[in-house]
Amino acid sequence: MTATRHLIGLLLGTEEDWPTAFEEILGRLGPVAGTGGSRHAFDIERITIEPFSLRDRPRYALVIDRLAYWYYHPREWLKKVALMDGVYLLNSPFTFQSMEKHAAYCAMMRLGLKVPDTVLVPYKNPVDNARYAYTAERYNKPFDLDAIAQRIGYPLFMKPYDGGAWRGVSRVSNAAELHAAYDQSGEMLMHLQKAIDYDVFARSLSIGAETMVMRFQPEQPMHLRYAVDHEFLSPQVGGEVVTIGRLVNAFFRWEFNSCETLVKGGDVYPIDYANACPDVALTSLHYYFPWAIKALVKWCVFVLVTGRRPRLDLEADRFYEIADQPGASYGDKLGGYRQLAAAYFETGRYHDFCAASLPHIDEIVLDWVTGPAFDRLLIQTVRSTYPAYEHERFVAHLRGLIDLWIADETARLRAG
Ligand SMILES: Nc1ncnc2c1ncn2[C@@H]1O[C@H](COP(=O)(O)OP(=O)(O)O)[C@@H](O)[C@H]1O
Ligand SMILES: [Mg+2]
Repeated sequence: MTATRHLIGLLLGTEEDWPTAFEEILGRLGPVAGTGGSRHAFDIERITIEPFSLRDRPRYALVIDRLAYWYYHPREWLKKVALMDGVYLLNSPFTFQSMEKHAAYCAMMRLGLKVPDTVLVPYKNPVDNARYAYTAERYNKPFDLDAIAQRIGYPLFMKPYDGGAWRGVSRVSNAAELHAAYDQSGEMLMHLQKAIDYDVFARSLSIGAETMVMRFQPEQPMHLRYAVDHEFLSPQVGGEVVTIGRLVNAFFRWEFNSCETLVKGGDVYPIDYANACPDVALTSLHYYFPWAIKALVKWCVFVLVTGRRPRLDLEADRFYEIADQPGASYGDKLGGYRQLAAAYFETGRYHDFCAASLPHIDEIVLDWVTGPAFDRLLIQTVRSTYPAYEHERFVAHLRGLIDLWIADETARLRAG
């Protein structure tokens, strides 16, 4: 029987590491069995930027986008293929129209999550628009920045409403720092947010129905930020962090996203969870990189083989109904959200599918990571990321962490 072929498009910026890994694993996987004896094969292409007619039919069944958050021509192409052609997108630019932190904060506050108190203040410098002077003079009310900061309480963070990669983020401890940060904000629109004096920073990466919660150390240089630590949260807090990440994603229909939460005692405070293009670099994820690539391959294959349909609508009311249940505790609501998220991501069906149709994927990935192709990728990635005098050190550092993963994964597969 001939296999149905599915073409996956990669819309990429500068990265080479995970796309190479993704192509490699999908290639080694070969055709996959679907229901009723059907067979499915996968091709991958890196998408190039070209003029397109709005009535062109795209060849892709699924696209992983890492580019549209700053490059608008491919973003408009993605919107076209989402609206007109039903192409499955990770992630849809429609849902990322509300990708700025601000909308994500609003939605998660509305659902009763512990988002720290946050205030949006008007632009410091005039907006570049001929109408601004008149409008601002007439309608911008003077406001007392110090009073706002005092109400929130020091220390606090000032950060762009649509931030990313720590651009424009400052920690503010007093009035002098507050004014200095605001003066510097210029044409950026800023939030003031209460600082959480956290015990531990948990960063979770979700890919489809799977989530990896990692201990994150923002004070460290990039290659040391993700700590390999499997038991840094109690089972209950760990479960809450996973639920919050999946809730955010199910709410906005994001399927490839990272979520930052600050944990203090038994409380989990989500602070940054609208990352359209989450960091999946080999040099930062190291130990967790094989998991990420495997999860991405599994999710794409699941989507294509089962014919999962992309959804543009948010159906926010279904979440709000849970938020508004009279007498429901925070824990009750999390339970309700967990169910909605599991339904959106078809978690049960996904795991059944992986068990039936991808029975050897763990061995395939382990075999690849253990072999020379992975080591070549590791060396290439280090060479393209770091200056020459640091190559040796970083190759050794990454090999050490990957060896640790190989040992753990080998033990896990033997035990299972
Ligand atoms: N409310 C907060 N309490 C404590 N730390 C914070 C808070 N907001 C931001 N930070 C710190 O600043 C960093 C950058 O802020 P974040 O909101 O994650 O912006 P970005 O999108 O630029 O990553 C966070 O990783 C964290 O270390
Ligand atoms: Mg962040």
